[in-house]
Amino acid sequence: MHGVVTVNRRGRKTSPDKEVSHTPVLLHEVVSLLAPRPGGRYIDGTVGLGGHAVALLTAAGEGASLLAIDADPDALAVARQRLASFGERVTLVQANFATLQEVASSTGYQQVSGVLLDLGVSSLQFGPRGRGFTFSWDQPLDMRMDPSLPVSAREIVNDWEEQDLAGVIYQYGEERRSRAIARSIVRARPLMTTAELARAVEQAVGGAGSRIHPATRTFQALRIAVNRELDSLTSALRQAHDLLDVPGGRLAVISYHSLEDRIVKGFFRQAARDCLCPPELPVCRCGHRATVRLVTHGAIQPSPTELAANPRARSARLRVAERLAENASGPS
Ligand SMILES: C[S@@+](CC[C@H](N)C(=O)[O-])C[C@H]1O[C@@H](n2cnc3c(N)ncnc32)[C@H](O)[C@@H]1O
Repeated sequence: MHGVVTVNRRGRKTSPDKEVSHTPVLLHEVVSLLAPRPGGRYIDGTVGLGGHAVALLTAAGEGASLLAIDADPDALAVARQRLASFGERVTLVQANFATLQEVASSTGYQQVSGVLLDLGVSSLQFGPRGRGFTFSWDQPLDMRMDPSLPVSAREIVNDWEEQDLAGVIYQYGEERRSRAIARSIVRARPLMTTAELARAVEQAVGGAGSRIHPATRTFQALRIAVNRELDSLTSALRQAHDLLDVPGGRLAVISYHSLEDRIVKGFFRQAARDCLCPPELPVCRCGHRATVRLVTHGAIQPSPTELAANPRARSARLRVAERLAENASGPS
């Protein structure tokens, strides 16, 4: 079975105590809704440790090919090893999916049967040798998926004005105690590690009494800011849409928090509507025509069985849309 990956950061098999394992989220649902077929061409914009990619290529069968992208070179090294048996059917590229069109055209993937974006962070990045994405391990504060990005979490935490810091924590962490947290962070400077940051947050908001760790939202906010995750997603959705076969190409997106899911839902809803005029206008003036139909109505969430096996999947939401024929009408 391809369900669990067991590799180290360089893609080599490791002894059990040094393992990094990643269980692909909503795997069965992704495969059945993207419905890969022989000869199909696919893009995995977040190949991570390759779990979904292996399953898609295996289900597709003969002649299917895959463009596998990830911003993180370490993840890509793992995926390269994991996907080696598919030979030339796989093209791997280290890139941000915000540059999807460019990567697709430079690799000959201008028109594809399906695109998958499984957003967020892999267990490699959340693990003991990650780059400071989590307070579960005491690591240097970094949070860059692509280590060549100019700004890391350390600069944001140590150099930004308190007000800007509070703004980011509020906006991207949906954290209502953002001002107190920013004040505590500024007081505790310099902060160099995840444990120091977690402690500064706890000093502001207390350490107990919540379902989640008090620093969860702050870490999420910094990660989104460092990697400009929401801008990249907004831009990638349009590009992925434009790369899909007309008709029939499918885009599947798994999001892990409400900010991402809101962007995906908004994009899909708008693309699936025939008119975007305000309801008070008696006749359509915008001329917008639906370019997709929604394959999923409402987001698909992991089953209780999946959650029991993989509690990390709890916040996952899968949405899928399919390109319509030109001039086809969708429900408005
Ligand atoms: C949840 S993991 C994907 C796991 C993968 N589906 C699997 O089965 O192993 C998300 C991956 O997306 C990558 N990623 C996140 N944002 C990205 C972006 N804007 N561009 C490219 N890769 C990105 C991360 O580096 C991470 O490896």
